Amino acid sequence: MTNFLENKRILLIVTGGIASYKSLDLIRRLQEKKVKVDCILTESAKKFINPITFESLLGRKVYSNLFSLSQEKEMSHIKLASNSDAIVVIPCTANFIAKMANGIADDLSLNVLLASNKIKIIAPAMNTNMFNNEAVKLNLKSLNKMNVKILSPKKGKLACGTVGTGKLMEIEEIIEKINNIFSPRELSGLTAVVTAGPSIEMIDPVRYLSNFSSGIQGYEIAKSLHNHGAKVTLVTGKTSLDEPKDLEIIKVTDAEEFYKICVSKLPYDIFVSTAAISDWKVKKKFSNKIKKNNNEINLVLRENIDVLKKISQTKNKPKLVIGFSAETTNLINFSKNKLFKKGCDWIIANNVKTQLVFGSNYNQVSFITKNKVEYWRKMKKYEVAKKITKKIVNFFKKNKLIL
Ligand SMILES: Cc1cc2nc3c(=O)[nH]c(=O)nc-3n(C[C@H](O)[C@H](O)[C@H](O)COP(=O)(O)O)c2cc1C
Repeated sequence: MTNFLENKRILLIVTGGIASYKSLDLIRRLQEKKVKVDCILTESAKKFINPITFESLLGRKVYSNLFSLSQEKEMSHIKLASNSDAIVVIPCTANFIAKMANGIADDLSLNVLLASNKIKIIAPAMNTNMFNNEAVKLNLKSLNKMNVKILSPKKGKLACGTVGTGKLMEIEEIIEKINNIFSPRELSGLTAVVTAGPSIEMIDPVRYLSNFSSGIQGYEIAKSLHNHGAKVTLVTGKTSLDEPKDLEIIKVTDAEEFYKICVSKLPYDIFVSTAAISDWKVKKKFSNKIKKNNNEINLVLRENIDVLKKISQTKNKPKLVIGFSAETTNLINFSKNKLFKKGCDWIIANNVKTQLVFGSNYNQVSFITKNKVEYWRKMKKYEVAKKITKKIVNFFKKNKLIL
């Protein structure tokens, strides 16, 4: 996950619910992401957790009293409102939701919220019946209309012993959502298809031709484009990776299937062909398991459909087509040839002989266009994805296809 939270300032309001203690974990994780966190506790929150726990974690005072002369002198409530990049209320009680939705300002936190025009995010947590109560639903609807981002509670076992919706979203997911809210969405309005992972070409019902592609690089690119606002379809061969959230994922097996999906999605703006699609398939698949015979078997292979070439040369070609090449010799020459022969715009080339690429989290690639070659240092695959995304954003900006 690209960290868009670095150097951001977040004001965390903790309200008085059973999940209040989880905000401590949230603070710790935000700090790991280099976020500067300020904190307000409601009077009820202080009944669940002692401010001193927060103060020792933050290394400074927490706020809570609207009428405290010393607190107001140190940081006025108006300054607290304007100082942060976002205000997050985690966990957010039913009571607090009602007050926020109605513009009530009877404590420090609610005054700060009213006085702030920054991004507001809440993560409600409460008993299921409370969450399903019409009053709470109406209040959440009002907050949604006011552009407050609501991180909806999950279904699960609640502190009161019941099972139902009302459990605070997992802290890790909360961080991911907040991070996404901060992502620069320069690619919003654009659509992208990214292929990833290996193809599998069946030989007989139990055997196949494939390769060692792990899918990591393609998944990172798909996530990065999504984080920058593009609507992404990830067309993926078999991998053991977690499915990225919030993007369309289509699982395929062989080259024909990769092609069928990629072509059916046209028109789209960006095509990134990261998948390692087999150059060959057996000329004729065996319908039954091949039996041992005479020590040898001749498999006749024929060239597979070339997905990158087909998409590059189609009439309604995406505005930007990016291919990947994995070579063991002559990396730059072979990759340049590939670029011209197929008609794609860029090639990301990696040498799979001199470095372990398959399954590794690291990659050292060269970035090749029609008239230049850039040698990039070895970096994590998510960093490669970030760098490619930056190039994509610049391409669309330069060609005035986005603002
Ligand atoms: C033990 C206990 C647990 C509570 N847990 C929750 C909760 O999870 N969610 C909620 O909305 N209210 C919960 N409440 C009720 C709130 O504490 C109460 O509405 C309070 O006024 C909230 O104040 P605040 O919104 O200013 O923090 C709980 C109350 C008690 C006594």
